[in-house]
Amino acid sequence: MRRLAILGSTGSIGTSTLDVVAAHPEQLSVVSLSAGRNRELVRAQCERWRPSCVSVAEEEDARWLAAQLSYRPEIHCGAKGLMACALHPGADTVVAAIVGAAGLASTEAALRAGRRVCVANKESLVVGGSLMLRARDEGRGELLPIDSEHAALHQLLAGRPSETIREVRITASGGPFRDWPLERIRAATVEEALNHPTWKMGPKITIDSATLMNKGLEVIEAAVLFGLRPDQIKVTVHPQSQVHAMAGFTDGSYQLQVCGNDMKHPIQYALLYPDRIPGPVQPYDWDQMRTWSFGIPDLERFPCLALAYEALRAGGTAPAILNAANEESVAAFLAGRIGFWDIPTCNRDTLSSLAPEPVRSLEQVLETDHMARLRACTWIEKHTC
Ligand SMILES: NC(=O)c1ccc[n+]([C@@H]2O[C@H](COP(=O)([O-])OP(=O)(O)OC[C@H]3O[C@@H](n4cnc5c(N)ncnc54)[C@H](OP(=O)(O)O)[C@@H]3O)[C@@H](O)[C@H]2O)c1
Repeated sequence: MRRLAILGSTGSIGTSTLDVVAAHPEQLSVVSLSAGRNRELVRAQCERWRPSCVSVAEEEDARWLAAQLSYRPEIHCGAKGLMACALHPGADTVVAAIVGAAGLASTEAALRAGRRVCVANKESLVVGGSLMLRARDEGRGELLPIDSEHAALHQLLAGRPSETIREVRITASGGPFRDWPLERIRAATVEEALNHPTWKMGPKITIDSATLMNKGLEVIEAAVLFGLRPDQIKVTVHPQSQVHAMAGFTDGSYQLQVCGNDMKHPIQYALLYPDRIPGPVQPYDWDQMRTWSFGIPDLERFPCLALAYEALRAGGTAPAILNAANEESVAAFLAGRIGFWDIPTCNRDTLSSLAPEPVRSLEQVLETDHMARLRACTWIEKHTC
């Protein structure tokens, strides 16, 4: 039986994780839940799953929850509460499904405490990848990706000697603007950008999918998780989102990983690894006629992808700078303060305004994150519509 701490239980990944738990009552149980501001949903989740520890972002919501619940779990709030959920002694597996760099410290602490950490929160790997690997190694933790492309690579690369891997390819649906001309993309509205063709996800990652920054963050994530060079990681546009990744070997052949586009699949893979048992996702139906297509991304229309490669090649704190700028520019776009095309421009200007340094500590990357956010916010102030 795996006992779970789910950080970000009220989000898209968090709720899908609970669906997977519901399908496997013999194998999975819930020990702690952490949410942000959605107190109604976390209340309902507590009543259903009866975790012994729960945390919300604000103190006022923690008080509200204590008054509402029909039983008495430990109730915490803020960053300390997140840590209490992540490090709960009753939990052996942590699902890191908070959005953004806010998930960094709890992911690191759980790895250092020797937990199995199933990471959806790609930002923590982008911002502090080397620190996460060090925490895993020193704490003898386990790091398993939930991102579908990286779960696919985990399946494709397991047990392969690194010298036999020529390259990997992660696929991108191309987002809602895949076939749009540049002029139309420049003027895209929030509503258009949130209209993802194949995946139903939280708002931040949906915008990142429209700019292809999500794919850029995933390129950096793949470099961290699988120890690959930037030139070994390629992106292939595949609108059907059925092939999630490809591994290319030195003899010139490729292996592909295929499953439907339902996040419950990679979530179950990470939670139950190395076991494979029937779950809530139907097996892939090969008896249906399908057409798959593959193409190359256009870096002129999707400059965020090129910026991610630039940050990966620069190394050190460059990915943290880019990630912080992107979190701020996406939030400003969602709030209607800047236009869609301002996202890559703000990201590029912020990235080039700070010199990257070698990564030394969690405090240093958090300080870099803070500095980059200040630069991005100043940029946004100047360009507010
Ligand atoms: N959705 C997908 O299909 C998908 C696929 C691959 C990877 N990912 C990655 O998984 C992560 C989560 O994505 P998502 O789509 O599930 O996002 P989401 O639906 O927006 O959910 C985010 C979760 O984080 C919580 N949260 C946000 N800020 C917080 C803070 N400061 N402190 C504590 N909790 C906070 C939210 O709480 P409230 O809602 O209660 O405020 C919610 O539970 C992201 O890093 C994303 O890139 C997602």
